[in-house]
Amino acid sequence: MFYPIAQKLMFACDAEWSHNFALGGLKRLAHTPVAALWRQALPLKPVTVAGMHFDNPLGLAAGLDKNAECIDAFGQMGFGFIEVGTVTPKPQQGNDKPRIFRLPQSQAIINRMGFNNKGVDYLVENVKKASYKGVLGINIGKNKDTPNEQGKDDYVHCMRKVYAHASYITVNISSPNTPGLRDLQFGDALYDLLQSVKNEQLDLQVQHDKYVPVFVKIAPDMDLVAVNQVAETLLKSKMDGVIATNTTLDRSLVQGQRYAAEAGGLSGLPVRDKSTEVLRQLRAAVGSAMPIIGVGGISDAQSAQDKLNAGANLLQVYTGFIYKGPPLLKQIVTSL
Ligand SMILES: Cc1cc2nc3c(=O)[nH]c(=O)nc-3n(C[C@H](O)[C@H](O)[C@H](O)COP(=O)(O)O)c2cc1C
Repeated sequence: MFYPIAQKLMFACDAEWSHNFALGGLKRLAHTPVAALWRQALPLKPVTVAGMHFDNPLGLAAGLDKNAECIDAFGQMGFGFIEVGTVTPKPQQGNDKPRIFRLPQSQAIINRMGFNNKGVDYLVENVKKASYKGVLGINIGKNKDTPNEQGKDDYVHCMRKVYAHASYITVNISSPNTPGLRDLQFGDALYDLLQSVKNEQLDLQVQHDKYVPVFVKIAPDMDLVAVNQVAETLLKSKMDGVIATNTTLDRSLVQGQRYAAEAGGLSGLPVRDKSTEVLRQLRAAVGSAMPIIGVGGISDAQSAQDKLNAGANLLQVYTGFIYKGPPLLKQIVTSL
């Protein structure tokens, strides 16, 4: 009952204002009786992936809690894991507003946030304060003003800062909103970056006496040749897993709708099938051993099951959660 009303009120307001208002409430009220509005106990559907134990396989995707301010509230909703970030070494403003647009007819969002975040040090302080005990992914990126050739320094910087506090780390090279970032997904640029990441991970493993898996998050806008190349590089660089996918640049499924022509990444129902197809191709290319997190357009039990059938070990939601709220988690996890 709570979410449909809250959603109606928030959808009557500007998208980013509602986002900040909701996060502010979740942050302030997580440890008060008001948390009863979103707290729910979900059936246990335990899975172990990349050495991590999950109460259920449905997680919160990156980008909703960029600064890790609401970890406890999302844990109370029953997510099987939470991914915070994308965080960059230095704080940055992101793109000019407006930069989030709702396309309700397609249960979709277009965003061009541009990695607005308060920087990795602030995120780490928030992670330290949280009492959530489940699996926590920390998604890292590079600052906009760092040239791609030095991009790996930003990823390594963030790895050093977050390593002790993360269950896993995600290397995000697939946001369409940082100019040139997606170029890091291909050829030598990808191999160079992932080699640096791997070397750093192994150094940090020794320093901290624990192994933190590294996942790489990719875009859905790739043909089969590109997917196969990425897969080969992931295997060669001994990455622990992959997240498929980020948002799409493709507007073919939302043509004519209000905001369809806005620049940025499109998420929700219109990215679902494209994302599942990339996931299926990726599974065929990496073999059965590499863990894959399937994300993109999950909005009900069927779309969640489709990702699992295409080869996902774990799932994440963002846009479906904005449209349907905590009841979506209950529906999906119960159905698994
Ligand atoms: C407003 C918004 C901001 C996002 N920010 C990030 C981000 O910072 N890092 C990231 O890896 N993905 C980000 N994403 C992508 C989501 O994590 C997810 O991969 C994508 O939206 C597809 O899933 P969905 O259809 O369930 O939303 C963002 C998505 C949205 C809608």
